Amino acid sequence: MTVEKQNEQIIWTDDLSVNSTVIDNEHKQLFALIDNFYKGIKDNSPKKRLEELILGLVDYTKTHFANEEEYMARMNYPNLSEHKELHQSFVAKVSSY
Ligand SMILES: [Fe+2]
Repeated sequence: MTVEKQNEQIIWTDDLSVNSTVIDNEHKQLFALIDNFYKGIKDNSPKKRLEELILGLVDYTKTHFANEEEYMARMNYPNLSEHKELHQSFVAKVSSY
């Protein structure tokens, strides 16, 4: 899996596809939100704007994780409980800042 960085832009590439249009689109949206936050930092956006961007990213990430876990359960993904733990520890880590 690779994440390309071109022209200072974080790009979702086809090799990141999980063969689900819904999940792929959510990942693309996450990349776009991360890219917006990154650009906000680079452009020295006001702190309030950066807070809005990061809170939007965290919010969308939680929604995505819930959707992804539901999708994985439907697909009988074998390591679902381990993956859920990764999601939970990521959310806990982000929420501690
Ligand atoms: Fe995901």
